[in-house]
Amino acid sequence: RPRVLSGIQPTADSFHLGNYLGAVRQWVGMQETHDAFYFIADLHALSVNPSPAELRRRTRVSAAQLFGAGIDPERSTLFVQSHIRQHSELAWILICNTGMGEAARMTQFKDKAAKSGEASAGVGLFTYPILQAADILMYQADQVPVGGDQKQHLELTRDLAQRFNNRYGETFTVPDPYILKEVEKIGDLQEPQAKMSKSSSSPQGILEVLDDPAPLRKKVMRAVTDTGSEVLADPENKPGVTNLLRVLSVLTGTPIPELETRYEGQGYGAFKKDVAEAVADTFTPIRERTEKLMSDETELDRLLAVGARRAEAIAVETMAKVRDHIGLLPKG
Ligand code: TYM
Repeated sequence: RPRVLSGIQPTADSFHLGNYLGAVRQWVGMQETHDAFYFIADLHALSVNPSPAELRRRTRVSAAQLFGAGIDPERSTLFVQSHIRQHSELAWILICNTGMGEAARMTQFKDKAAKSGEASAGVGLFTYPILQAADILMYQADQVPVGGDQKQHLELTRDLAQRFNNRYGETFTVPDPYILKEVEKIGDLQEPQAKMSKSSSSPQGILEVLDDPAPLRKKVMRAVTDTGSEVLADPENKPGVTNLLRVLSVLTGTPIPELETRYEGQGYGAFKKDVAEAVADTFTPIRERTEKLMSDETELDRLLAVGARRAEAIAVETMAKVRDHIGLLPKG
């Protein structure tokens, strides 16, 4: 079985439709066919300095949402990144094999640094993609299911793996990104050309997995559509409608041309109502299962401990190889 690995940051109280369609939905599907490793990237979240209470709460609710979305602890290994100390250790070793220039090229860093002002952006934001490479290479992952915004980080990961293998001998599997075209960038409902984002979308632009059906419906009905009244996929001229068409198509398994025919001559109202229904029907069971898991923290923490044990076994193996290959002296 090929191995799959991916992570998600606990930087909000709820995941959103972009996280779900761009990544988590694929994670659930791939458990059937892959040896699956998924984790909550709490070390990555530290790069924006959350309060300790917030980080703790969001780490648990993130794990609960992943189980709630269908990650099965029997078939997948779900763990918290910081439980495996080796991530930080491997990140340092990879940092020492990364050029300033190639790290400085990362557009996500440049965007975030520009927002906070170059000088005040943290060093953690700068080395963030290298920690991500460590996450992936640690588990010798073959495939990494992510949204389109992670493409460049995956390219860096591949470069670092190849360089390391050339310098120190065969050590890491070179991973492939797994990105589904239709869902690689789910748009903000109010600004459909921008991606739906935990950090930059307005509350009206974002559909949260843990939202109740009423606000979900309201936000979809108020989503920016475009002039005209035709339900047609046209990313250039109708980014809002196209975004909603993609969502409805994936959630209901209906090809877009079939949806275009179905809503012909009906305007946007009926179409939006069905989008809202599909989203609410998808999120409601996830929210209910999440709430149930959150009511038993002991059980949730136990499941995460089981995941950590499995993940750690592989991390120990990889690090023994890495330490040996680069010439770090064994403790004896
Ligand atoms: P994060 O937490 O920002 O997002 C989690 C996943 O959701 C995807 N995503 C989207 N997909 C489509 N449309 C959107 N609007 C949208 N918004 C977010 C992201 O692409 C991602 O797949 N750096 C990663 C976390 C990470 C990681 C890793 C991922 C840390 N280590 C190792 C893979 C492998 C991130 O910030 O994801």
